[in-house]
Amino acid sequence: MASFLQKLKDVIFTKSGQYNDRYGKNCSSQSLDFRRNAKGIFRGELPKKYRELVDLIPGEKVVEVGAGEGVLSLAVSANKKAVRAIDYTPLRHEKGKEIQAAWAGLGKDVSRCELVLGDVFDDPSLLDGFDTLIACRVIYYFGDRTDLFFDMVAQRMNYVVLVGNGRRAKRHARGHVSKDLGEAARLSTPEGMREILERYGYEIVTEIRDNDPVVIGKRKQALA
Ligand SMILES: C[S@@+](CC[C@H](N)C(=O)[O-])C[C@H]1O[C@@H](n2cnc3c(N)ncnc32)[C@H](O)[C@@H]1O
Repeated sequence: MASFLQKLKDVIFTKSGQYNDRYGKNCSSQSLDFRRNAKGIFRGELPKKYRELVDLIPGEKVVEVGAGEGVLSLAVSANKKAVRAIDYTPLRHEKGKEIQAAWAGLGKDVSRCELVLGDVFDDPSLLDGFDTLIACRVIYYFGDRTDLFFDMVAQRMNYVVLVGNGRRAKRHARGHVSKDLGEAARLSTPEGMREILERYGYEIVTEIRDNDPVVIGKRKQALA
């Protein structure tokens, strides 16, 4: 019964709840991809969406904002010098710690991944020291703080990996006006992600229009 109620709550919050109900300290749901694949993830399996991304991530020091349970960051960290996965939702952050412990127990090298509970707007220094940013299914939620976010990013990152949202992108292309996002829904689309990266001085080096679109930008003038 309890798990049925939890599932119902998850569906309601995920499909129609406002952002502040869905995430933050009172959030009681896990990310969609985590919920769908939880058992396999704890056994060390990577959902297809992340498997395809891992080898595409450039740079040596990678920070992910809005990392959820941190599955992508944990996987990426095996091939990087340092990875930081930031999320401000305690439940998701805690689940990430459990996954990290489980993967370490399976012999996976996740020692260079740091999972941080924090809000990047409260503490921009969380981005310091990294050359690559990942933001997967998150930037369209930043609303009127989008430019503030990309100002912080452009001062620090040589590479930016944006992952949008296939379902939202299709609806946006059909002219649907998103109730919860408004105009920001364009940032779930390949065009919207490309535009914002170009506006902040990045050239597009990779674009994938498959399910959740992926756009990767490289800073035209590399930072030292
Ligand atoms: C839609 S979920 C995506 C999670 C994961 N990246 C994925 O693709 O499954 C958005 C995540 O961003 C986190 N988030 C949103 N704003 C944030 C912020 N300002 N700082 C840190 N995390 C944030 C939320 O807690 C939530 O877990």
